[in-house]
Amino acid sequence: MNKQKKIGILTSGGDAPGMNAAIRAVVRTAIYNDFKVIGIRRGFDGLISADFIEMNARSVSDSINKGGTILLTARCPEMMTVEGQKKASEICKILGLDVLVVIGGDGSFNGALKLAELGVNVMCLPGTIDLDLNCSEYTIGFDTAVNTAMEAINKIRDTSSSHERCSVVEVMGRDAGYIAAWCAVTGGAEDVLIPEMKVTQEEVIQQILANRNKGKTHNLIVVAEGVGRTEELARHIELVTGIETRATILGHLQRGGSPTATDRMHASMMGYLAVEAFKDNKKNRIIVFNKGRYEDLDVVEALNMEKKIDQNIYDIIKILAI
Ligand code: ADP
Ligand code: F6P
Repeated sequence: MNKQKKIGILTSGGDAPGMNAAIRAVVRTAIYNDFKVIGIRRGFDGLISADFIEMNARSVSDSINKGGTILLTARCPEMMTVEGQKKASEICKILGLDVLVVIGGDGSFNGALKLAELGVNVMCLPGTIDLDLNCSEYTIGFDTAVNTAMEAINKIRDTSSSHERCSVVEVMGRDAGYIAAWCAVTGGAEDVLIPEMKVTQEEVIQQILANRNKGKTHNLIVVAEGVGRTEELARHIELVTGIETRATILGHLQRGGSPTATDRMHASMMGYLAVEAFKDNKKNRIIVFNKGRYEDLDVVEALNMEKKIDQNIYDIIKILAI
């Protein structure tokens, strides 16, 4: 009789809304196919310390609607070392894993690649609010995070426009400006500062002064975390223009909350497809969504891909703010 196949699953890096929907899809598709599922807690940290639980279909009940990750997550410096990588791969072998599903971002996929090089079969799902993966136009959690940030911006706009102030709002995204660019378009911002485009504080101030001449009484400036210096920009705007200015750093509220339908849908599909790819004997793949289609890419190939933020987005923000 054939040995029952065993699937390990972990979430790694920053949590993202929709990770639970992805875990649920992997667990239930695996169990439907009569595979065993081992849930590894706290990402690579839990793998190295063999912190795991056996999962069944009920382990993921009531999770599709929840933000965060039921498997917990962590950043694991030990996984950056050769020793840590060897330990992690040894645990995969001791546990008898036929495949390890890694849900996370770029960093987590680099960890997964190290495991692949040590003979572990890995299947990766893109889970990060930052959308900063070059291999995929979509990442689990981005849609929820952008909607959460946009709703917060709507509220800031209410008070800010009532006081005829300028609001400077910083959003997350690590070194990438996707959340900021989307928030700027969907929040109706007058300007945006993202790491991918060099816009100076002086250019922002000139824009605000021009807006005042056009009769605008409220300005919303979105700043990506990767640009930072948000408080300093607000003080500078107020000093130079005389317009009362407030800075808000949205912070971790952007990472929590119940996932949107879009995030639940993609996460469910990607989780299902990860198990299907394993059933098709595929090895070391990342499930991605590009040009309206899901596909699986080789991990090395995927990590070497390039993606650039649409440069038109800056012009569009400016045109829509006239
Ligand atoms: P994300 O996966 O969201 O990009 P991080 O960059 O924080 O998040 O990475 C998550 C974890 O992945 C790190 O804490 C580390 O354990 C592992 N990792 C990141 N980069 C590497 C690397 N180059 N080699 C091995 N492991 C890595
Ligand atoms: O990668 C997701 C993210 O929320 C980034 O946008 C941000 O730079 C970082 O994680 C914050 O990490 P931490 O939760 O460790 O403060």
